[in-house]
Amino acid sequence: MQIVLSQEELSEGVARLARRVREDFGRQPVTVVGVLTGSIVLVADLIRSLDGPVRVGMVWASSYRGTDTTPGQLDLRLDLLPDLTGQHVLIVDDIFDTGRTLEGLLAELHKRGAASVRSLVLLRKTGRAAVPLAPTYVGFDIPDQFVVGYGLDFDGAWRHLPYLAALDADEIEAARRTLSAP
Ligand code: IMP
Ligand code: MG
Repeated sequence: MQIVLSQEELSEGVARLARRVREDFGRQPVTVVGVLTGSIVLVADLIRSLDGPVRVGMVWASSYRGTDTTPGQLDLRLDLLPDLTGQHVLIVDDIFDTGRTLEGLLAELHKRGAASVRSLVLLRKTGRAAVPLAPTYVGFDIPDQFVVGYGLDFDGAWRHLPYLAALDADEIEAARRTLSAP
């Protein structure tokens, strides 16, 4: 595994994002809507840096199937969402890859009467976008590699790493064999 972003770089990036969000929202409450499961570490760090009023809700989204590293059908579960009527919403996800997750979520959240809906991602992969939209806030633009750590997983593994690391093709193959072994 090759480290792409160290713990220090990640924490500086999250602090920078939090400052930009607070500048734009002013003293208005921010309703953070985290996208499970990949955003858990980012949400935990971001909300503690967002000086001022914050509410938190979660949704679940998945477009990966097990050991696939390319997106499949988007699956959304919105039943954990709080009432968003009149709220200033900030959707928070780990990574913007094709952008289909964010596109699907924005469409759903716009139906819920929010006063405004913005989006924040920690990472954006270069040259991968398949939708004509950009997140409002992006922490880091990274090369098109499969990355794990700081919430991001490969088939459920490595979310807990405090840094972000890239897996090469051989490591993905080896992990596929190990993770699928009984
Ligand atoms: P999108 O819908 O293609 O933008 O994909 C976004 C979702 O795919 C993210 O929320 C992640 O869960 C997952 N994803 C995309 N790229 C990676 C990666 O390199 N590592 C781990 N998960 C990823
Ligand atoms: Mg995700």
